[in-house]
Amino acid sequence: MSAEMGPLSFAVSRNERPRTEAERAEVLADPGFGKVFSDHMVLATWSKDRGWHDAQVRPYGPLSLMPSAAVLHYAQEVFEGLKAYRHADGSIWSFRPEANAQRLQRSCRRLALPELSVEDFVASLRELVAIDHQWVPPADSGEMSLYLRPFMFASEAFLGVRPADVVTYCVIASPAGAYFGAGLKPVTLWVSQDYARAGEGGTGAAKCGGNYASSLAGQLEGIGHGCDQAVFLDSATHTYVEELGGMNLFFVTDDHKLVTPELTGTILEGVTRSSILELAKELGLEPEERRIEIDEWKDAARSKGLREVFACGTAAVITPVGELRWDGGSADHRGDGPAIGEVTMTIRERLLDIQYGRAEDTHGWLTRLA
Ligand code: COI
Repeated sequence: MSAEMGPLSFAVSRNERPRTEAERAEVLADPGFGKVFSDHMVLATWSKDRGWHDAQVRPYGPLSLMPSAAVLHYAQEVFEGLKAYRHADGSIWSFRPEANAQRLQRSCRRLALPELSVEDFVASLRELVAIDHQWVPPADSGEMSLYLRPFMFASEAFLGVRPADVVTYCVIASPAGAYFGAGLKPVTLWVSQDYARAGEGGTGAAKCGGNYASSLAGQLEGIGHGCDQAVFLDSATHTYVEELGGMNLFFVTDDHKLVTPELTGTILEGVTRSSILELAKELGLEPEERRIEIDEWKDAARSKGLREVFACGTAAVITPVGELRWDGGSADHRGDGPAIGEVTMTIRERLLDIQYGRAEDTHGWLTRLA
């Protein structure tokens, strides 16, 4: 199932009842995360005989699906997440959208879905942002952006277990403030010992809904222990640190290393993760991708031999990690140090400065959308 010959052309039907300026302003004043959506969405259909076709921009609203649509039964679905940032001159940019497009293609291959070309993926974002540009928060709004959620799913009405012959691609957009609510504060993590997020040969490296569904029971367990998020270990030995339900992890050591779990096929290759690895050297840190034992983390946290720990992802950017809790113990690496480490803040600011056009984009990471 290869990508069809592009490019797709999008038929536009405008929302005749878009939110008023006042309604939009009210949302943009405090958008939260993923709660309110812009006035339009992108849709395209793929079928086995026609490839990608019927691409359109149309009013945001309910989808019509048969109860037998395969995605509702077998979870043949993948998604992406990226943001549109407004710069001071009013222009609108996204951060490495080609990397998201390529990851979507990898996810599609793993979930036996048809691929969308990088060109069509980026075009779909441009189409939506062009029509809903007023939903991109102003440049001086702190950390606000328009979160873009492209996703693809098996829409064929058929209960047999096989790759669907009809697939829907959709992009929706939601103005976003800070993912974890007001103020940047360290999160407490729960080590999920019994639940794994992904296993060898499974879908851990794909961005598919099923991985997030399988993280929820661990997250609930963590919340039951007073934690914010769960850390998942490798499913084979329950020894190595993998990732949180939806974020990658980084450790800053006393000898200036920036260590993150290596990609073993069960970890999602985050765009923020790979950007941080590239930024590390510029910040005087030595990036290191390797296996990290949970006991190494516990010991380092107990002995305060770990300078900082943070989680990263598109939605929350970089979130400092405070305490680690597990069945029978807990440790906080920070000792008398600051609640949020210096390296964590420096990397966070550097990334945000590039994304919002406040620092030079020396890596060529930004793509203009509007
Ligand atoms: C992200 O940080 O972009 C994530 O993957 C979390 C998202 C599923 C809300």
